Amino acid sequence: MNILITGGAGFIGSHVVRRFVNQYPDYTIVNFDLLTYAGNLENIKDIEGAPNYHFVKGDIQSEEDVTSALTKYDINGIIHLAAESHVDRSITDPLVFVKTNVLGTSNLLFCAKKYWGNDFEGKKFYHVSTDEVYGSLEMGGGFFTETTAYDPRSPYSASKASSDHMVMAFFHTYHFPVVMSNCSNNYGPNHFPEKLIPLMIHNIIQKKPLPVYGKGENVRDWLHVKDHARAIDTIFHKGKLGENYNVGGHNEWKNIDLVYLLCNIMDEKLGRKAGESAELITYVTDRAGHDLRYAIDASKIEKDLGWLPEYTFESGLAETVDWYLQNQEWLDHVTSGAYRAYYQQQYAM
Ligand code: NAD
Ligand code: TYD
Repeated sequence: MNILITGGAGFIGSHVVRRFVNQYPDYTIVNFDLLTYAGNLENIKDIEGAPNYHFVKGDIQSEEDVTSALTKYDINGIIHLAAESHVDRSITDPLVFVKTNVLGTSNLLFCAKKYWGNDFEGKKFYHVSTDEVYGSLEMGGGFFTETTAYDPRSPYSASKASSDHMVMAFFHTYHFPVVMSNCSNNYGPNHFPEKLIPLMIHNIIQKKPLPVYGKGENVRDWLHVKDHARAIDTIFHKGKLGENYNVGGHNEWKNIDLVYLLCNIMDEKLGRKAGESAELITYVTDRAGHDLRYAIDASKIEKDLGWLPEYTFESGLAETVDWYLQNQEWLDHVTSGAYRAYYQQQYAM
């Protein structure tokens, strides 16, 4: 196949690109990314010389950028991850989320449909979404299933929900060959340090305050990014068209418990006395409209497609902390902004 992966310079996209480049040497993999603040080609340095890998700097909102990439590489598969992904940014700048997530996804669907004509044989459009579209659960009160009614509550989740609806509308209206997944919170290497886990790791290293929103009672269901990338591979190849699959780790943590766990792991790894990093915990004003709890029922993908998470949280989190400690240059480049120069060095014409 010739696959266009959007957002492949981001956190999850980079793991998906690496997996597909390495697992499928016969496929052509095109990483299509605008390189916004969240796009970092240093994430995939190791595979950029692979013969089946190509990078295109382009905007999913541009008909010209998308159509030219589809045509140049004769694309027959799309895995769509490009998005604005941070809830806090969506609160301060909601319109960017509408443009990228709603208009960008709609443009991608439109361009792919136009390029593929009415011949969808051997074609596939995979939309990667989030469990946040389902809204917020009560403490101890059930799980999100694939049939849970959408109830997005942040500009981020509303924009993702809207893009999901457009994807499914293309399936029902045009029999466009879509498949979709809604995943819980990811963690792992290359996670941009604006999100909870990498921000805490970064601040613990730097001995900076650890900002916990509200009382730290909110619950998230954490999945290792490589388990998610493997789920995406499974769904892309075996998922039923027109269906969505919930992906999650059965791994719920209250934020405050998770931050304490990270502090303990890092005190040990950094040779600090027990309890030292936890002293950095600082309770700050809660996020507006902060969803209380997310939790995924992943039994459909487990039963129908045979996917199960492989990482335990203990091993995955310890390995993630090790990655950040061993890749402080990556972290320094991200926090200083130096990662933005990497594209110029590698790809500037
Ligand atoms: P990210 O913010 O790390 O990366 C997003 C990537 O998209 C970046 O490389 C950025 O440059 C690119 N991008 C942004 N706007 C673009 C545009 N207009 N055109 C082309 N590229 C553009 O995001 P992530 O955390 O890796 O998430 C990837 C996808 O997975 C998103 O769709 C997100 O909604 C979904 N998701 C994320 C999580 C999570 O925990 N991070 C969980 C479930 C689903
Ligand atoms: P985040 O990583 O932003 O993911 P999401 O909001 O998409 O779930 O946040 C995870 C949880 O951590 C969420 O409940 C908000 C909370 N949080 C903090 O308490 N402090 C922080 O500095 C951040 C970024 C998040």
